Amino acid sequence: MQSTLLSKLHVGIIMDGNGRWATARGLTRLEGHHAGVEAIRRIIEAAPHQGIGTLTLYAFSSDNWRRPTAEVAGLMTLLRRYLANEVEMLARNGVRLSVIGRRDRLPDGLAQAIAAAEAETAGGETLALRIAIDYSARDAILHAAISLSGISHATRTDFARLVTGEPQPRDVDLVIRTSGEQRLSDFLLWESAYAELHFTERNWPDFDAQDLAVALASFHRRQRRFGGLTPHALEPAFGS
Ligand code: IPE
Ligand code: IPE
Ligand code: MG
Repeated sequence: MQSTLLSKLHVGIIMDGNGRWATARGLTRLEGHHAGVEAIRRIIEAAPHQGIGTLTLYAFSSDNWRRPTAEVAGLMTLLRRYLANEVEMLARNGVRLSVIGRRDRLPDGLAQAIAAAEAETAGGETLALRIAIDYSARDAILHAAISLSGISHATRTDFARLVTGEPQPRDVDLVIRTSGEQRLSDFLLWESAYAELHFTERNWPDFDAQDLAVALASFHRRQRRFGGLTPHALEPAFGS
């Protein structure tokens, strides 16, 4: 990852409330997910102007497979279309896309679409966009632990590389969750050890650049301490 992006904020967003947004309007849940894609477009465009270098969006959790087959299929189709339709625009705007999570359970074509989108946007230097699909933070930590078993001297940095899949892992500064729910739902548990949390009642399809600015303004008013006492204590790297 470019060092310029690493020096900017890492924001994670739990994009919640598509279903409730749709139901309140007499629409289908899938129409809510479609409206959610519009919000994704808005936020990707706004993020680099608001000091964000890395943006991780929670699109589909490993527990979301529990939803009705038709909703899951609709979401997978939406994700595939999103990648196909958006990749050119992302590349043009310097967005480097990567997908975190398992790929072996995705329907035919989606894993290939992900790989193609990652390759096509690999040169992006304006925003590192990470989309979490079939993602579980606990699984990511578990698999990192399994791959290290028998090794007695791994640093936090070594471990974080395995958990995050990033050569230069970046802690999350701010987690935003929409729709009024106040939980993490297995999102970036390792990386968010010292993240600030921002919860908003806004459902994801309504979330816009102004809402993002409000979340960041709240973040900038927080006093981060990282266990120390000085307000400007250096952020602990993953290294121990
Ligand atoms: C978030 O919206 C999108 C996904 C989890 C895929 P929801 O679908 O969870 O919407 P609500 O929570 O039912 O309103
Ligand atoms: C978390 O939302 C997952 C995503 C936003 C992709 P959920 O709606 O699935 O979470 P819970 O079930 O309310 O905790
Ligand atoms: Mg939800």
